[in-house]
Parts: sequence; C-alpha cells; structure tokens
Amino acid sequence: MKLGVNIDHIATLRNARGEDFPSPVHAAFVALEAGASNVTCHLREDRRHIRDNDVKIISELTKRLNLEMSADEKIIKIALDIMPKSITIVPEKRQELTTEGGLDVAADIKRYKGITDAFKFKSSDSTISAFVEPDFKQADAAKEAGFDFIEIHTGRYAGETLQDRKAKELERIHRTVNYALGIGLKVNAGHGLDYKNIYDIALIEGFYEFNIGFSIISKSVFTGLETAVREMLGIIKDAEFARFQHDTNN
Ligand code: PXP
Repeated sequence: MKLGVNIDHIATLRNARGEDFPSPVHAAFVALEAGASNVTCHLREDRRHIRDNDVKIISELTKRLNLEMSADEKIIKIALDIMPKSITIVPEKRQELTTEGGLDVAADIKRYKGITDAFKFKSSDSTISAFVEPDFKQADAAKEAGFDFIEIHTGRYAGETLQDRKAKELERIHRTVNYALGIGLKVNAGHGLDYKNIYDIALIEGFYEFNIGFSIISKSVFTGLETAVREMLGIIKDAEFARFQHDTNN
C-alpha cells in the first residue's frame, strides 16, 4: 500500500505572508524522498492555496503529481495541458474548509464519461479517479463513466467518535473496497486520516494508496516533513505486516 502526501497546506502557509516560501515544490521533493509515492495538490477554483504554476512545476519536475480538481471546465483545460500522472475529480464548494462528501457520479454518468474520455484521448499514461463515498452505486457509476480508480472518502470514518459506529463505517468501507475491486476498479482512500486512525483502515486488504494531507503537514511543523512522512508510512507498513502474519497463521 502506497502513501500519497497532500501538500496544499504548505502553500497555505506560503500565501499567508505573500512570500515564495515555504515552497510546495521543495515539499514535494522532501515527501517523495521520504517514501511517498505521489504528491497531491488540489487546484481549487478560488486558488486559496495551490496555484497554477505550482502544479505545472511539480508535475513537470517530479512526474508524480496527483492533481485533485473539480469538474469545472477551466480547471479541466489546465489539467489537460499539464497531464499529470494522475487526476482525482472531487466535488468542490466555495465556502467549504475542505472537500465535503463524495462526488455524485451516479447523478451524471454521461458528463463524467466525457471527462474521462477527454483525458484518455490526450494520453493513456495518466490515470483518473473519482472521490466517492463508500457506496456500491457510486462504484458502479465510476466504472461505467470510465474511471480507473475510486478514492473512498474516509471522512465519516475519521470523524466518528462512537466505537460501534466507527466499526460499522469501517465495515462499509471494507465491503466497498471488495466490491470495487470485483468490478475492475483500483481503490484509494483519503480524508481525515491521521496517525491514530490509519492503522485500522490499513488492515483492510486491497487499497492501492492512501492520500493524506492535514495530519502529516501538521506534524511536520514539529518533526520536519521527512520524519512525518516516514512515521505515517511506518504505521501503514505495520498494519500490512500484521495482516500478512494473520493470513499466514490462518
Ligand atoms: N483525498 C481527497 C480527495 C481530498 O479532497 C483530500 C483533502 O484535500 C485528501 C485526500 C486529504 O485529506 P486530509 O487533508 O484530511 O488528509
């Protein structure tokens, strides 16, 4: 299982003083050196953190950008120009603090099919993912719309404090992973994942990659980004090892 690191909030800090540091490009290289498989940037319509030049440079220099974006036409045009290694389509509202809820692919399969076709027509090297709730209907719709991946929104799992409800949500995620794999999709997960809640979710077999931002960037303020990334990867590897031991003992 791989770890993608969302570096949006390096840009938040940079923009707070209107300086050119800390640099998201520098952060991208540190995260990748520390073992991340990609860096994720969300180019928001309001450009509140990551900006056009950031994604262009990071994509060009690292070749490992996962560009998170809405299905807005202007943003799609920029993404088609850059053609990052991967694209993740998310819902986006102006007022939200972070991405709230998953994309409703089932509500407009035709529109999303048009988007996946446009990217595939430009290049077959990039993959395209839909950020959705853990829901079979959304997985079916994503498949029909031509997405290669779904990224399961783990916000509800992360935010749940009651243990029985958290366990139920984890079960819903587990069933969706199996279902999505069964219909030929690859599966990522992200949102609200941190150093405490990643272990249980990483015990589930079948994920390709976790995309984690806020908890890693927050920790990096005290430990440095390299240590923060390595520590998260260590927990993911611990869970993988525990699963492997369990499987070989049974
Ligand atoms: N994956 C997606 C699709 C997201 O929208 C976000 C938030 O930008 C993340 C992962 C990372 O979430 P967090 O910052 O809570 O780790």
